[in-house]
Amino acid sequence: MKSRVIAGAVLLTALAAAPIARADEHPGQKIYREARCTTCHGETGDADTPAGKRLDARKLTSEEVRKMTDAQLGASIAKGRQKMPAFGSALSDGQMQRLVGWIRTLEP
Ligand code: HEC
Repeated sequence: MKSRVIAGAVLLTALAAAPIARADEHPGQKIYREARCTTCHGETGDADTPAGKRLDARKLTSEEVRKMTDAQLGASIAKGRQKMPAFGSALSDGQMQRLVGWIRTLEP
C-alpha cells in the first residue's frame, strides 16, 4: 500500500514536470523530425510532401502500416524498402523502437 502511494507520487511528479520539457511531444516524434523522415512522410505522417508524392511514400497513418507488426515496421526502417533509404546505420535500435512507438500513436 505504501509503495503504491509512493509510485503515485512519483507519477504525479513526472506528469507535473513534463510540460516544461515539451510534454506533448512523443520521444519518437523528435527522432522522426531529426532523422528527416518528415521529408517524405510529412510532419503528421500523411506523406503529403513533394518528395513523398514523387517517391510514393507510404502514409504512416494508413491501414497497411497499422496492420504491420512492430518488428515489421522496425525492419522497414532499418533496412529501407523500395525507394525508402535504410536507417539501420544512422539510428540505434532504441531510436527505431521509439519511432515505431510514435507511429503507433498516429490517427488516420
Ligand atoms: C526519401 C524518402 C523517405 C524517407 C526520408 C523516409 N521514408 Fe519511409 N518510406 C518511403 C517510401 C517511398 C515508402 C514506401 C515503401 C514501399 O513502397 O513499400 C516508405 C515506407 C515507410 C514505412 C512503411 C513500411 C512498409 O514496409 O510498408 C514506414 C514505417 C516508414 N517508411 C517509416 C519511415 C521512418 C521512421 C523514416 C525516418 C527514419 C522514414 N520512413 C524515412 C520513403 C521515405
